[in-house]
Amino acid sequence: MIMKAYKIIRKYIAKDGREVTFRTPSWDDLDDFLEFINALFLEGAMISATSLKTRQQEAEWLGRHLALIENNMRIAVVAEVEGKVVGQVEVNPKSGHSKHVGILGISIKNGFRDIGIGTELMKEAEGLAREYGLTHMTLEVYSMNERARHVYEKLGYTLVGIEPDSIIFNGKSMDTVIMYKKIE
Ligand SMILES: CC(C)(COP(=O)(O)OP(=O)(O)OC[C@H]1O[C@@H](n2cnc3c(N)ncnc32)[C@H](O)[C@@H]1OP(=O)(O)O)[C@@H](O)C(=O)NCCC(=O)NCCS
Repeated sequence: MIMKAYKIIRKYIAKDGREVTFRTPSWDDLDDFLEFINALFLEGAMISATSLKTRQQEAEWLGRHLALIENNMRIAVVAEVEGKVVGQVEVNPKSGHSKHVGILGISIKNGFRDIGIGTELMKEAEGLAREYGLTHMTLEVYSMNERARHVYEKLGYTLVGIEPDSIIFNGKSMDTVIMYKKIE
């Protein structure tokens, strides 16, 4: 399975009645992605970004992102609502003896949460990961990210490890929680 830029995967209606399109990302998403990542940073979302991104930095990231997708080294899906990117998921397969394991990362924009998009996007990513040949999924989440942990647990991810005090987030110490799921 090789993903191509801007390929519609499916459309459905979210819990609040808005139409959601799942598709692969494309170069035209640059400004949406920039707004998306900076909005996450500015609201203080529990993600790894530690500073605002410039358009140049985001363009470099998107260039790498699209190249990895087109070279079959990354699975990525965006959620679009009313013509804007409001969520994204990516799965990076590990290499060598762990090449059957995918590392999953997901974010949904503020204003579009709690209407099921995160759950649906995770399921979509797992389906594509299975087609790709992955059998297991792993992810890391900040211990105080209760919403994310709830979604992962609901989808069958189990806690397999904790790195105590490995995050200092806004001056607060917290753990990295490692979760794992068999997806075959
Ligand atoms: C975590 C995230 C991906 C989930 O996506 P989402 O679209 O909001 O998720 P859904 O709408 O599918 O589900 C949200 C669930 O969390 C529940 N929830 C909301 N706030 C909660 C909280 N504080 N504690 C526990 N559960 C909570 C909702 O009730 C809902 O539960 P249900 O599916 O059992 O009804 C999204 O909120 C997000 O991107 N947050 C900011 C960035 C982030 O944290 N990314 C993950 C980094 S590991």
